[in-house]
Amino acid sequence: MKAVVVTRPGGPEVLQVQDMPEPHAKPGEVVVRVEAVGINFADTMSTHGTYPGTPQPPFISGREFAGVVEDSGVRVMGYTQYGAAAEKNAIKEKLLWPQPKGWTSVQSAAFPVIFLTAYLAYWKAGMTSDAMEPILWPAEHKKRVLIHAAAGGVGTAAIQIGKLLGVETYGTSSSEEKLDRVKQLGLDHGINYREVDYEKRVLELTNGEGVDAVFEMLGGEHTAKSLRCCRSFGRVIIYGTATGQRQQFDAGVMMGKSLSAHGLWLSVLSKDSELIQRCLHAMQPWIEQGHLHPEIGHVLPMEQAGEAHRLLLQRANYGKIVLTIG
Ligand SMILES: NC(=O)c1ccc[n+]([C@@H]2O[C@H](COP(=O)([O-])OP(=O)(O)OC[C@H]3O[C@@H](n4cnc5c(N)ncnc54)[C@H](OP(=O)(O)O)[C@@H]3O)[C@@H](O)[C@H]2O)c1
Repeated sequence: MKAVVVTRPGGPEVLQVQDMPEPHAKPGEVVVRVEAVGINFADTMSTHGTYPGTPQPPFISGREFAGVVEDSGVRVMGYTQYGAAAEKNAIKEKLLWPQPKGWTSVQSAAFPVIFLTAYLAYWKAGMTSDAMEPILWPAEHKKRVLIHAAAGGVGTAAIQIGKLLGVETYGTSSSEEKLDRVKQLGLDHGINYREVDYEKRVLELTNGEGVDAVFEMLGGEHTAKSLRCCRSFGRVIIYGTATGQRQQFDAGVMMGKSLSAHGLWLSVLSKDSELIQRCLHAMQPWIEQGHLHPEIGHVLPMEQAGEAHRLLLQRANYGKIVLTIG
């Protein structure tokens, strides 16, 4: 079968489509004929060998996918750590979910990582119930969230969910064009960080008060800056290091405003099937009513996996990039 293989640690250039042996299902697994694969920033880190737990190359790239279960013909979407970007994948049944009704495999492959991560971030921010049910925040208790990379995969999912929860959204991006697109999706306040300092702008826009939560995936100085964007009892949800730098904290502001920082890592949380089911269950009505959909900026054939990674690394993506397989 054809697969996108990480041939050695490196950049997009090390990805090659090669022939690999077909997988065989172990107990608890089924074989899926993969039709589409969602590209994630984590895939670029795995290719570099900087993502924790990355196997030694050569290995098959790709963590989320959609396709058809070989034995039953059921259309599914699913999540794994590696091995998704191949014509076939043997996968644990508990990490497979039915494709939303009427969705294509391209749409379904773009759903799991970004929507699960974004919904879990709202839960960690205390903006859903403890049991993960959605809360529609009334105008007088409106919550505010700052979403970094608002026009990216997780960002566009978080904007859509925020709108449905009645949360006021503040989003950063490197480009006006990307911000215009996310505003059409429901972003309330766009901040172009190449033009203005987002910390100053957030404080200006909130009359010096700050936001209730920040979804922080940059690392380095941005973790401390994000803490300074919060109002009292605010929470920074740490879920990535796109800058490649270790998070810095501002303990003074954390104490002064009783702030907290929460980690979030889907790779680990995905092992808790009950938690993931609760999360999907919470979003199900919105999907059925057509309120949630992955924003897909690029659909490319598997032969262009390197180009897909390049677009992410060069900040040239909008929403998700999806590869078609076969
Ligand atoms: N912890 C988890 O479970 C989890 C799950 C999913 C994703 N993540 C993390 O969430 C972040 C977003 O992931 P994603 O797959 O949805 O990617 P993405 O947001 O679609 O793409 C990355 C975006 O980040 C922005 N960015 C800012 N600084 C960057 C830099 N130094 N290098 C590259 N991009 C930069 C760019 O948008 P602008 O041009 O608009 O700035 C870029 O388009 C990543 O850090 C990823 O590792 C974590």
